[in-house]
This record gives sequence, C-alpha cells and structure tokens, in this order.
Amino acid sequence: MTDSPSTLSVEVWRGAQEGAFQTFRVPRREHQTILDVVTQIQREQDATLAYRFACRVGMCGSCAMVVNGRPRWTCRTRVSEAVTADGALRLEPLRNFTVVKDLAVEMTEFFDKWRDARGYFEPREARADFHVVPPSSRERQAANAGIECIGCGVCYSACDVVAWDKDYLGPAALNRAWTLVNDVRDGANAARIAAVSGSAGCHACHVHMNCTQFCPRAIAPTYSIAGLKRAMMASAFGRKA
Ligand code: SF4
Ligand code: SF4
Ligand code: FES
Repeated sequence: MTDSPSTLSVEVWRGAQEGAFQTFRVPRREHQTILDVVTQIQREQDATLAYRFACRVGMCGSCAMVVNGRPRWTCRTRVSEAVTADGALRLEPLRNFTVVKDLAVEMTEFFDKWRDARGYFEPREARADFHVVPPSSRERQAANAGIECIGCGVCYSACDVVAWDKDYLGPAALNRAWTLVNDVRDGANAARIAAVSGSAGCHACHVHMNCTQFCPRAIAPTYSIAGLKRAMMASAFGRKA
C-alpha cells in the first residue's frame, strides 16, 4: 500500500550491528527536516529510539545518518530533498562505524584517526602576540579550504577504502592533516607528513571522490589528500610543496 502524500512511511534501523528495520508513520509537514522526523518519532511514538543531535543548525556534526542510501547531515536536510515519490524514508546509522544503538554510532575510532594523522595544532613557537596571516595569502586560502569541517563522519561513511581497510585514516583525518600542513603557525609538518605517509595514509586513497561528493560543508577531502601526496613527494626530494 502506498502512503498518502501527507504521511511519511519511515523505516528506522533498530538494534546495533544485528537488528532490523521498524516502520513508523509520521505526518508530513512543510519545511520538515529528517532530524524533525526522527525527533517526532522519539517524542510521540517510541521514546527508546537512540540518535544524536546537538545544535540543529549544521555546526556540531553529530546528527549524520544514512538517508535513503546516502549519508547526510539530518538537521540541514529537508524531507523534500531525500524522500521517494511515494513518501518513503529509510534511516540507517552511518556506515563504517560501529553502531551503539539504532541511529547512534561510536565515533572514537574516527577521532583516534585524527590524532594518528597528527590532526592537532602544534605551535611553531611560543608567541606573546597574535601571528597575523593575511586572508589573501596563498597559505591562508589553502588552510581555509578545509577548515570548516564539522567532524560529522559523512565522508568516512561514504568511503569505500575505509570499508575495505579498517586502518585507513580516512578523508576527514587526512583533510585535517592537510589543513594543518598549510597553517604557517604550525611547527610539526615533518612529523605530520610522516604520520600520513604509511600504508594507512594518503596513498591508500583510490580517488573515488565519494567524500567530496557528499561532504555537507562542500569540502573536498580528495584534493586535500592529493595535496598531502604532493607534500610527501616534496619532502622526500627536499623541496617545498
Ligand atoms: S577520494 Fe579517497 S578518501 Fe575520498 S571517498 Fe574516495 S577513496 Fe575515500
Ligand atoms: S570533511 Fe565534510 S563530510 Fe567529512 S567530516 Fe568534515 S564536514 Fe563531515
Ligand atoms: S545537529 Fe548539529 S550538525 Fe546537525
């Protein structure tokens, strides 16, 4: 039976690694987001449904899920963008993560890989004043290209190489590493380039572009990874990238 356009038929993953889909009927509303739908199910139909959100405005990165087969940030995805013509939604936890419960996934491994890629700022020198980096400089623009990452995990969920190779650092950690390589205030580039040069690092990327296609912040981790490959080669030949 097909639902009327005024009602959504929402299949939601219940359980952890093992589980099944449960179907809910939710009234369709104008401007409704996917996160609104999940919240309405939890408030009005099943209070045990697990999912995450915090900001609801695309800042915190906690609300990502797979919606009708595609990873998305759900607080900024309107139902109208994702729903099928007959009003169906299928909501799953992000792929390539361990499921904690229902739509909530374990993020520890994802952020451990940021650490392993040396994705943290290490100041070049202790300074008493601010280090001015002109907005128009090449270095500043290169660093800015990936700085707006919100750590949502959408790219990691979309990456086939992560699915095949659990050690692969993945697009978000490598994008973070490249952002720091371009940060003129940072002093740890030699160690950072070494950290992303191993078999789990930038050379494992197969340039599928899924990360770049789905990133909700319009970041291009594929190009960041290409930048790391160049930096690695330049470092091997003693040149500047
Ligand atoms: S471009 Fe590289 S990191 Fe991005 S999805 Fe493809 S394999 Fe993964
Ligand atoms: S690069 Fe984009 S998709 Fe990946 S974690 Fe950052 S914001 Fe999310
Ligand atoms: S709830 Fe914060 S990004 Fe969606």
